[in-house]
Amino acid sequence: MKIRDIVINPPLVLSPMAGVTDVAFRGLLKRRGGIGLTVSEFISVEGLTRNNPKSKRQMRFYDYERPFAVQIFGGQPERMRIAAEMAEEVGADILDVNCGCPAPKVVKHGGGSGLLRDLPRLETILKGIKQAITIPLTIKIRAGYYDNHINAVETAKVAEQCGVEHIALHGRTKEQGYKGRADWDLVRQIKETVKVPVSGSGDVVTIEDAFARWRETKCDGILIGRGAMANPWIFRQIEDTLAGREPFQPTLADKRDILLEYFELLRADMPELPAIGRMKQLAGQFTRGLTGGSRFRQVIYHSHSVSEVLERIEDYFETIAAGRTYIGESDGDAMSDTGEAPALDSCEAATVEV
Ligand SMILES: Cc1cc2nc3c(=O)[nH]c(=O)nc-3n(C[C@H](O)[C@H](O)[C@H](O)COP(=O)(O)O)c2cc1C
Repeated sequence: MKIRDIVINPPLVLSPMAGVTDVAFRGLLKRRGGIGLTVSEFISVEGLTRNNPKSKRQMRFYDYERPFAVQIFGGQPERMRIAAEMAEEVGADILDVNCGCPAPKVVKHGGGSGLLRDLPRLETILKGIKQAITIPLTIKIRAGYYDNHINAVETAKVAEQCGVEHIALHGRTKEQGYKGRADWDLVRQIKETVKVPVSGSGDVVTIEDAFARWRETKCDGILIGRGAMANPWIFRQIEDTLAGREPFQPTLADKRDILLEYFELLRADMPELPAIGRMKQLAGQFTRGLTGGSRFRQVIYHSHSVSEVLERIEDYFETIAAGRTYIGESDGDAMSDTGEAPALDSCEAATVEV
């Protein structure tokens, strides 16, 4: 897949996830291979244009991530334009506009999926940005705002007319949130309608899912979000299959190492407490289906310090590698100290500065 002259190879995108796909997570997964494009968490233009330090930090990326897209959200055309210029200034390769977030505090200000029910506003925003930046402009949309008014194809047409150079669709409506299944037929319909490259998002969790969606829709690229938290090697495995190789199978040691590496990246990037919180989040998703995984999750959730987290990871993997039953030691009920891992089903948890 090519977005203007930027080659996205393989045509696999680590889908943006607020609270997850920060610089550490993206770097961790990019190092596993198979990712053609990474995207920042969605970044508030209200925060960015007021020089909010958190929003500015969210634009950081590793050079080896390239090509890298910054995704912004908001509803105010002038702020969207300025934020887009800021993203270009920090060296992003692509500027992506979020038209999908269903969180009330985002929609209330006309941003995220709110743009799907106000296409004239979307048009103003896209045209304004297009005039201000030289890097490619892309959008990520949902099926529509209301369940009874699916307008993804219409939105895609408007976007293309405004000069948007790649359209990604998550085939659920705003009303639907994350319930039900993503409608990939809409990806097919958009692909048949516009000339720019089109990618699909939603519920791809296996190699077979990816190939089935390509076959059915003829889309250019595929975004993977939640599936990558459960299996960070999914991109590499799809890439292997594309190249006719046996898909890479991670060993237990690989699984231990990725957790330790993630923790290292997090600690280099943020204070101890939030690093532990993020660690719990990935460990929680990642150990589903592993022997003793549910016990390990409890134990990790009750960890309070870096050394505790590290010891417990080593202990868990040593125990299961030796074929012993993992019992795990934990002091029970002090979850609130470092926080339960946040719910992972939306962009709701993200902070929006207004
Ligand atoms: C925790 C979480 C946060 C998300 N944050 C964003 C976001 O910031 N921007 C965006 O465009 N989509 C966001 N999404 C939507 C995903 O990018 C993706 O489109 C959706 O989860 C469906 O794909 P999946 O089944 O592969 O996860 C988020 C999804 C989740 C689960």
